[in-house]
Amino acid sequence: MVVSEMNDEYVRKTPRSKQMYQEARKFFPAGISYRIRFIEPYPFCVTDANGSKLFDIDGNIYTDYWCAHFALILGHRHPAVTDAVREQIEKDLHYGVTHELELKLAKKIVGMVPSAQLIRFTGSGTEANMYAVRLARTYTGRRQVGKFEGNWHGGYDPLHVAMKPPYNEIPSGGLTPGSLADTVILPYNDLDGVRRSMNGKELACVLIEPVMGAGGMIPAEKEFLKGLVDLCREKDTLLIFDEVITGFRLGPGGAQQFYGVKPDLTILGKIAGGGLPMGAITGRSDIMERMDHTKYKGSDYSFHGGTHTGNPVSMAAGLATLKVLEDGSVHQKIGKMGEKVRKELTGIMDHGGLKFQTTGVGSIFGCHFTDIPVKDATAASKGDKELSKRFMYFLLERGIFCLTPELVHCAISAAHTEAEMDKFLQEAQRFTKQTK
Ligand SMILES: Cc1ncc(COP(=O)(O)O)c(C=O)c1O
Repeated sequence: MVVSEMNDEYVRKTPRSKQMYQEARKFFPAGISYRIRFIEPYPFCVTDANGSKLFDIDGNIYTDYWCAHFALILGHRHPAVTDAVREQIEKDLHYGVTHELELKLAKKIVGMVPSAQLIRFTGSGTEANMYAVRLARTYTGRRQVGKFEGNWHGGYDPLHVAMKPPYNEIPSGGLTPGSLADTVILPYNDLDGVRRSMNGKELACVLIEPVMGAGGMIPAEKEFLKGLVDLCREKDTLLIFDEVITGFRLGPGGAQQFYGVKPDLTILGKIAGGGLPMGAITGRSDIMERMDHTKYKGSDYSFHGGTHTGNPVSMAAGLATLKVLEDGSVHQKIGKMGEKVRKELTGIMDHGGLKFQTTGVGSIFGCHFTDIPVKDATAASKGDKELSKRFMYFLLERGIFCLTPELVHCAISAAHTEAEMDKFLQEAQRFTKQTK
């Protein structure tokens, strides 16, 4: 079955989205603002959102498991967040100088994230990773950077590689050999492999997603992460957790609290900005203070900055979100829902005779149409992509929105209900019947 046959019902229900898309193609390459948001033959056009729901221009309603790239853990339009944003907007949009809200959010994050001592804000997760690499290079005086197969850290050149197999394929034009020359690709969940790849090299840092997000919601194994901490220490290499997805998602202290493992530096974004543009670098003060121009000069100093760093509207949204999350009750509730969906979905697919498994932890889950144990992006890539697409479109036509077609990976927000989760499972069951 080809995609165009698969989504006839979607096309029937979305004529105005189609028109919008035809118009959008005149202004945006591929008619979209970000490749990951593309849906064949065209994406639905959203007019509004509330709680767990997205509303499109044709009057369709979708239960949203994409949650704005997993940023909206409290759901769309959470009153505490929108009130805080409204209050700040009435004061001003941006000061461009120091203000109290950035200090309040810094205090909140340092209080919640176990390894956080000093912090700097950025405009996005990509920027935070970019400045963190510079900081690690400054601190260690080394050039090379380790990144894992299947991990995504944003579009910064040295990290924009090996997101999916074949890992040696260059995924974009414009990446010069020089920009990738100092990047060392490491195998996920394979400590011996990491040791071999690091052998004889002096890496400034190793970046890792403690749970691989875009790669398929694949958790690192606890022993692997612990071993990685020791290995990096042994090699005087800084360990950087990219917690842009896991931060404030796996619990109030993110993946490092969940796993009981402390990195040297942590990258935050998404939830930390409450749905508004934001990123952060935080970690050990002896490393972070290299950004202090009053203490360090020349090549001992690591520059960081940006027009929108510490934007008060983002700070207000982030602070309001973290206040709701800090007691952990939201994580408990949505974590249980995640456990249930992982378990029951696997049972349903199994019963339906499909090779399938779920990955994930807490409120995030990935759907893989394969019986190869999915511990890394190589295994994830062996899943049946056509079946995955059919599953995604099957759900979409029934008002359930997940991305991406070839690798469905989802997040549950505080706004999702048990009834919505049951509907997800019921539709999955119908899918198995149709697919037999
Ligand atoms: C783990 C991870 N790191 C970094 C980024 C980049 O963040 P941003 O899109 O805010 O630049 C993302 C975005 O999806 C991400 O998932």
